[in-house]
Amino acid sequence: MDKLIIEGGTPLEGAIEVNGSKNAALPILLSSILLESPQTFRNVPDLRDIHTTRKLLELLGLHCAYDCERHEMRMEPGPLVPEAPYELVRTMRASVLCLGPLLARLGQAKVALPGGCAIGARPVDQHLKGFEKMGASFELEQGYIVGRCDRLRGAEITLDMPTVGGTENLIMGASIAEGETVLHNAAREPEIVDLANFLNSCGADIQGQGSSTITVRGVPKLIGADYAVMPDRIEAGTFLVAAGITGGRLFVKNCPMQALEAVVLKLQAMGMAFREEDGGVWASIDGPIQPCDLKTQPYPGFPTDMQAQLMAMMCLASGTSMVDERIFENRFMHASELVRMGARISITGHSAVVRGVPKLIGAEVMASDLRASASLVLAGLAAEGTTQVRRIYHLDRGYERIENKLCKVGAKIRREHEID
Ligand code: EPZ
Repeated sequence: MDKLIIEGGTPLEGAIEVNGSKNAALPILLSSILLESPQTFRNVPDLRDIHTTRKLLELLGLHCAYDCERHEMRMEPGPLVPEAPYELVRTMRASVLCLGPLLARLGQAKVALPGGCAIGARPVDQHLKGFEKMGASFELEQGYIVGRCDRLRGAEITLDMPTVGGTENLIMGASIAEGETVLHNAAREPEIVDLANFLNSCGADIQGQGSSTITVRGVPKLIGADYAVMPDRIEAGTFLVAAGITGGRLFVKNCPMQALEAVVLKLQAMGMAFREEDGGVWASIDGPIQPCDLKTQPYPGFPTDMQAQLMAMMCLASGTSMVDERIFENRFMHASELVRMGARISITGHSAVVRGVPKLIGAEVMASDLRASASLVLAGLAAEGTTQVRRIYHLDRGYERIENKLCKVGAKIRREHEID
């Protein structure tokens, strides 16, 4: 296992790149199960989860080739196999997004039920409920969801909550179903819009993406059309925080500012300033970090995937901040590690009180999940002394060689291989 060694205290200065969005690329790549022709995806980030998705697609019968220099994934269709095995699904919950495409193409699917993860139980009941309305039936067999249908039929579906994965799975299944599907209380995330835009470029008929009501008129088949994945708004947001927490000034290239509106508003409240220029944004802070309160919500509210990163910055604010995590039931794993660096955080249920301290002190800390890892790196960049962030395979799921990018803007950070 690898760890990152960070010497904190250097304000970051310079320009930093944002890769393609992990959370757009995963459903878009898995939607290639629906295609009956070759396909090239561009701006695909070189991440662990992308390679896990490639392995899954190969197991399902597609031929995939990833060019990490060009960040391109080439897909060739092949005879489909309807089974996503546990040893793969357990490493990446998003594998469940192959359910809709397999049901739509083959009328059958056997997908390991994704277990929970560090941040919560992560059920998929809404996915199954939606497909049952479209004519599928499911059995749970030795930990596998086994789904069958003659053919998915369009239906009117109201989701209990705006689930991102549930919305994506149902859009993909409905895209070549028979008839029209209307999704109510759909999630509105930009990654869903990217998926819908990709499918429409292949001949799908999806309307309303980005709103709470999405209409999908099934078409007979989809023909691949080359597509570039949107920039990763969470990676970009993480770099905005890196500028603020270190008191530096960063130019974040191809930063999707509109998709980060809720995050930018909070960072402005904490004292940061932003100036958009040439498709990117200058991010800086003058004066002390101000405290702020935040509540995570479905898009366009404040994204849960940025909660841990802002909590790291709140630790150094000139006052007390409140965090209300409303999406996942256990997404404060970073707090106890930040406390080991001198932060003052108290957790009660889904609420955290963060009392600002004058400085954080470097320490050995342990990453527990993807965004918690990012939070610890950010804290290490600002802390006095040396921070070691261990088990950064979590970080590698969602950030492409983050230490190289941070080094280029002045961070004293290196990766070491660790025999655990
Ligand atoms: C997606 O996960 C993202 N992952 C997550 O990002 C992100 O945190 C999450 O959306 C919320 O924005 C990908 O896109 C690959 P949900 P997903 O279904 O689809 C409950 C990261 O760090 N729920 O919107 O799994 C669920 O328990 C990752 O990049 C049900 O109850 O999230 C949760 O409380 C972490 N039943 C809430 O809804 C269901 O059938 C939101 O889950 C589905 C979800």
